[in-house]
Amino acid sequence: MSANSAEPRTLPLPLLDHHSASRSAVTCEYRCGNACAHDAPNESDNSYFGDLVRRVVNRRGALRAGAVLSVAAGATATAVGTAAANPGRGNGRGHGNGHGNDSGAAALGTDFDPVPPNTQDRVVIPEGYEQQVVIRWGDPVLHSAPEFDFWNQTPEAQQAQFGYNNDFAGLIPLDNAGIHNLLVVNHEYTTETHMFADYDPDKPTEQQVRTAWAAHGMSVLLVRRDPARGGLSPLPSWYSRRITLRTEFELRGPAAGSELLKTSEDPSGTRVLGTQNNCAGGVTPWGTVLSGEENFHQYFAHADRVSDPETRERMRRYGLGTGSSTRKWERFEKRWDASREPNESNRFGWVVEVDPHDPNSTPVKHTALGRFKHEGATIRTADDGRVVAYMGDDERFDYIYKFVSSGRLKNGRSAHARRHNMSLLDHGTLYVARFSGDSPASEIDGSGELPSDGEFDGSGEWLPLATGDTSHVPGFTAEEVYVFTRLAADEVGATKMDRPEDIEPNPSNGRVYCALTNNSNRGAAGHAPVDEINPRIGNKHGHVLEIRENHDDPTSTRMSWGLLLVCGDPEDAGTYFGGFDKDQVSPISCPDNVAFDRHGNLWVSTDGNELGSHDGLFAVPVTGPERGHVKQFLTVPNGAETCGPIITDDVVTVCVQHPGDNGSGPSDPGSHWPDGGDSQPRPSLVAVWRDHGHRVGEIGRR
Ligand code: FEO
Ligand code: CA
Ligand code: CA
Repeated sequence: MSANSAEPRTLPLPLLDHHSASRSAVTCEYRCGNACAHDAPNESDNSYFGDLVRRVVNRRGALRAGAVLSVAAGATATAVGTAAANPGRGNGRGHGNGHGNDSGAAALGTDFDPVPPNTQDRVVIPEGYEQQVVIRWGDPVLHSAPEFDFWNQTPEAQQAQFGYNNDFAGLIPLDNAGIHNLLVVNHEYTTETHMFADYDPDKPTEQQVRTAWAAHGMSVLLVRRDPARGGLSPLPSWYSRRITLRTEFELRGPAAGSELLKTSEDPSGTRVLGTQNNCAGGVTPWGTVLSGEENFHQYFAHADRVSDPETRERMRRYGLGTGSSTRKWERFEKRWDASREPNESNRFGWVVEVDPHDPNSTPVKHTALGRFKHEGATIRTADDGRVVAYMGDDERFDYIYKFVSSGRLKNGRSAHARRHNMSLLDHGTLYVARFSGDSPASEIDGSGELPSDGEFDGSGEWLPLATGDTSHVPGFTAEEVYVFTRLAADEVGATKMDRPEDIEPNPSNGRVYCALTNNSNRGAAGHAPVDEINPRIGNKHGHVLEIRENHDDPTSTRMSWGLLLVCGDPEDAGTYFGGFDKDQVSPISCPDNVAFDRHGNLWVSTDGNELGSHDGLFAVPVTGPERGHVKQFLTVPNGAETCGPIITDDVVTVCVQHPGDNGSGPSDPGSHWPDGGDSQPRPSLVAVWRDHGHRVGEIGRR
């Protein structure tokens, strides 16, 4: 069938008005099951610490105020004590005063002419750079892959081809020069209305459903960097692997084998078929990849038919919906029907670990890292060798977590060291974050304008939830903490955040950076009010949080924090760019993924730019006189989101996810990227490099 012979058809897309102005209805429907159309599932009444102190003072009155004030004073002392070591302080200038770069020199690694905001249907990169599509949806991964045929897709072909909607990408060098690398890519979700020419959302065929199962998961490839010409090329190799919804995973850690994880297909509670909605991720120091199962709830139908009220409430807290699912998979496999197999959804929402060095290895789901809508997980190693994984739960009013291992990293590449290191995430303590601000609540007015001390900042603590088989949460067993982590975190009073997405430690300074994408309901009636760490009502453009662990020790249970960026139009008084001159920065909206270059600059990709431009990738120094100088490095085509940035000295890659979602589907594609002409859009991974072999961002302006 040719493009011209495809039957034009009207897609029965829901006429939704909840989705953001820049995100199309189809993206919202298929990516997260219209999470924003529903009430945020966190209805717990756990309180912001500042509110708690104020309420207690008000309630108990002057007689008791002395005792209360000692609590408050303790909190203040913590804040003051850490302020001296606050991220960004002591870097040569205060960063609440907003002044420009005196030297006029770009920070090493960010020396490029920023790409202006635009709406072009292509990847727009800085002058003097080149680009190439490394791999597209449907390109071969396994040797057996047939040529991609948009009009005649099969599960057999798709399970050997690059999957749909690439998100996280990780690059693992196999040699010191970084010539040969393993490339690991997540395929977050499928958009059936745009993938198939003849798709009826009310009557998906088994062929289409099985193709979608094969389009989920992950890809592993060998890629070669061309040091002379630039760019990356996939090579056929022994490493090539597709992980799909039919790949067997092992559940490991303290909740493995729990009654809560047993199903009729898996009475052991230790084996799960597949992974889905894999969003962000990270490469571990031992050369494996961690990947977060995010919006898993949307794949399950009929949670309303579950008879046990406690099970129903647990499902509600995770966003499982009523009625049939968007994709109707429950018609083909009963495990997607929550009323028939109520524990199956407990087997998704984990961090998975894949060893790309061994295509025959069984990937793992780590129960010790808790179950929520995991954006990803990234690792920092403490001085004593323990490893710490930072994690966000991407939902309005959900939480930031970390896991600290009990065991210590073993150096070396021996089989023994690898086996040991791959068990580190099975034993340790899971924590959730509670933050407090250091400015009076009266100064956090919801506009985003800075309080009088010049910063949104304060202190925080990591509250333990469970260690191995020991629960730290009253009323919860350890297994319940791991499987129903959101409810356990509600119980201890974690801080409700504005959609915590990617959170990663910066290898150059040890500070941890978290993208908080947005929160349409912040401060709305019946929802959590603004606080210093989520300071804007209806937070449309998001912000970037910088955490410094006490004594720079990632295992510490105390931290200080500050907002590095309060995103949006720099002309809006309610934005902040690390104190940098707002006249000089690129506008940025809805930060999602974070990455770092060798110089320690933060790179941020965006999802759902609310400023009228396409999504993009931005670089921002975090130290020195250029701190906060946001510069846009690229933009992506129509309807697309920028995902999974990798920044090396020689090449930058991004995953271009859901190009064309602004269109209605194959009869009227919203984009013709990457192949041009009248082609269908294809999610793809793009490499960008500087011409003449120069390093990225290190050469003076042309
Ligand atoms: Fe898949 Fe939270 O983005
Ligand atoms: Ca403050
Ligand atoms: Ca994301």
